[in-house]
Amino acid sequence: MRNRKDEHIQYALAYQSPYNSFDDMELIHSSLPEYDLADIDLSTHFAGQDFEFPFFINAMTGGSEKAAAVNRKLAQVAEVTGILMVTGSYSAALQNPKDQSYPTKEEFPGLLLATNIGVDKPVELGLQTVERMNPLFLQVHVNVMQELLMPEGERLFRSWKQNLEAYAQQIPVPIILKEVGFGMDVKTMKKALNMGIRTVDISGRGGTSFAYIENQRSGKRSYLDDWGQTTVQALLNAQPLVDDLEILASGGVRHPLDMVKCMVLGARAVGLSRTMLDLVERYTVDQVIEIVNEWKEELRIILCALNCRNLEELKSVPYLLHGKLSSNQIYGK
Ligand code: FNR
Repeated sequence: MRNRKDEHIQYALAYQSPYNSFDDMELIHSSLPEYDLADIDLSTHFAGQDFEFPFFINAMTGGSEKAAAVNRKLAQVAEVTGILMVTGSYSAALQNPKDQSYPTKEEFPGLLLATNIGVDKPVELGLQTVERMNPLFLQVHVNVMQELLMPEGERLFRSWKQNLEAYAQQIPVPIILKEVGFGMDVKTMKKALNMGIRTVDISGRGGTSFAYIENQRSGKRSYLDDWGQTTVQALLNAQPLVDDLEILASGGVRHPLDMVKCMVLGARAVGLSRTMLDLVERYTVDQVIEIVNEWKEELRIILCALNCRNLEELKSVPYLLHGKLSSNQIYGK
């Protein structure tokens, strides 16, 4: 039988984005450093928490046997390396009380764990999710184009804004408004800010495309595969808000250099989905742990070569924009 969650994994792994905006951004390095490598501090703060490392495993899966196996490996990697893990949407578990495909604090006591739900779900389901998972925060995802392209997707959207307001008011842990790879627009961020939401994940195009995934599933409308804004473009658009909102970035992040580019553009932390999925599919858990630990060291190397001691200093690194990013002007209102 076809399983939607398994097909998401399958098509996410099959897809190679034709364009990654990080390739059009170049950082200006610094020839005369003022810090030792050991001075570099990678710590960050968002959603009311301090984190030792500025990257995390972003929302992916849950709700099937395959998802359980993937989540188990991701949780092992996250627990050992001390990075945060966000599970995929918890709604699958709410529909099936016997579900055991999501990692728990009982099983992974050292795990920094957060979870996720769709804004189409009423706040009662969000409250149940938080009660069951006891997460550090709750990501609330907005995925309108995915829903529209999904044959079995949501068709009623008028309730979304009210739902989001209810989440902002009633959820007892911090909430993060999150895109799913289409790039969050500034108007949406302002609406979130007006509701009292302090943290957003702009999750842009360049890695996973849920338009591609749903179009593959339905066999239709492949001309919409590249819908939305790239991660770098979404971060550039968000520049006027970087002091008012805690901005997180994701979408097409492959390695520490992409992470640093997000942080130069003001991101407080960077989420990786497809890259982590691909790693746990291809390598053993021990090998992935080694790669993640190398990334921490490589982040320090890049910050040192930019003459930046911490994330705050990264925000003043100059950069060049090439190719599709070079004329940076939005037209229209
Ligand atoms: C996702 N993503 C996602 N996002 C979300 O908010 N809730 C979810 O349940 C899921 N499910 C999911 C499944 C799979 C298999 C993938 C690959 C991704 C979206 C994800 O969190 C992220 O926003 C995008 O994938 C863009 O990041 P990458 O994949 O380019 O690093």
